[in-house]
Parts: sequence; C-alpha cells; structure tokens
Amino acid sequence: KKNIGVLASGRGSNLQSIMDACAAGRIPARVAVVISNNKDAYALERARQAGIAAVAVNTGDYPDKAEYEKYIVDILKEHNVHLVCLAGYMRLVGKTLLEAFPGRVMNIHPALLPAFPGLHGQEQAWRYGVKYSGCTVHFVDEGMDTGPIILQAVVPVHDDDTADTLAARILEQEHRIYPEAINLYCTGKLVVEGRKVRILK
Ligand code: GAR
Repeated sequence: KKNIGVLASGRGSNLQSIMDACAAGRIPARVAVVISNNKDAYALERARQAGIAAVAVNTGDYPDKAEYEKYIVDILKEHNVHLVCLAGYMRLVGKTLLEAFPGRVMNIHPALLPAFPGLHGQEQAWRYGVKYSGCTVHFVDEGMDTGPIILQAVVPVHDDDTADTLAARILEQEHRIYPEAINLYCTGKLVVEGRKVRILK
C-alpha cells in the first residue's frame, strides 16, 4: 500500500472522497497525513476524525515559499508519502515541493482545463456562459493548472443554474474522478509521455 499525503485549504470534501475510497479498498493506498495552510480548515477535522495525522502549517512563520515548502516536504517524508494530492489547496506549488516529489503531485481543478484555470473555475465558466464545464485531474507542474491531464469529466450547464448549482454538479464528478485517477496511479496504470498521460488497460 502506498502512502498518500493530502494538502487541503478548506472544507475537504475531496479529501473525504479519497479517504473513503482508500477505506473501502477502491484505492490500494492510505492517506497518511493531511496538511493545511489554514488551521481552521474542516479538512483537518475530517482527518482527525478518521484517525489520520493532521498538520496545520502557518505560511506566515516562514521567510519565503521555499522554506515553507521545505517544512511541508519534511512532514511528507516523515510519513513516507509517495504521492501528494492537492485537494482544494489554494496555493501555487513551487519548485521545492515539486523537486522533492517529481511526477508525484496531483491536483483536481473544477473546470475543463485549459479553460478557466486559477481560482473559482466553476464561477468563471458560469459567467462566461459555456454550455458544458466539468473537472480535471492533472499532474502538477510549476504553472497554474497546466500539468499533464489524467482524467476529465464533463457536466452540462443548465439555463437556470447559478454558480453554486453548477459547482455542486461539478463537485459530484470531482468525488468520482479524483479517487479513480489516484487508483490508476497507485496501480501503475498511468504512463506520462510529455504532455500526454496514457492509461494502460
Ligand atoms: C474543489 O471544487 C476543488 O476542485 C477546488 O476547490 C474545491 C475544494 O473543495 N480546487 C481549486 O479550485 C484549486 N484551485 P473541497 O475542500 O470540498 O475538496
């Protein structure tokens, strides 16, 4: 079983879907540690309730991003983490973390990348007036939501949607495809060739 480290800033519903999939044996891995840049994140509470190590890291205590990330890397290594999953982690990941886990950092984004990267992808899509949006699981590189795409799910946008109803429809798909992508990774089914991620049968 591989150890997963999850970085989350908020309510942690994607974290929950990952923990649930691990507990149910749908992913041959365990969430070993959850780290948040927000001590009040409900994600930390979810981890504690599941008996998983929960660590709050205050970015303000570090002189720069490299030092802050060095500390996060230390925690991840202490827990023998193999794969790092960003789940509503609202900070851009830098070199220090990426170089410590090359090709081993994943993210979920609530839009069909490369459309609507950055914050509030659901609302950006809704405001733009697209007829379909969705979510994307991708490997993380130094750009903003630019790494190789692993899985995507499409959802329709309805005329009577608000940004919130659209976000809820997208979130259901996030909870489905993030555990699926992690399972594919953990079972050795993902082959990265440049920008392309091939899924082995
Ligand atoms: C999710 O919709 C996730 O896709 C998004 O934040 C939400 C976190 O919800 N992530 C980003 O926007 C990343 N820039 P959760 O805390 O309930 O998993």
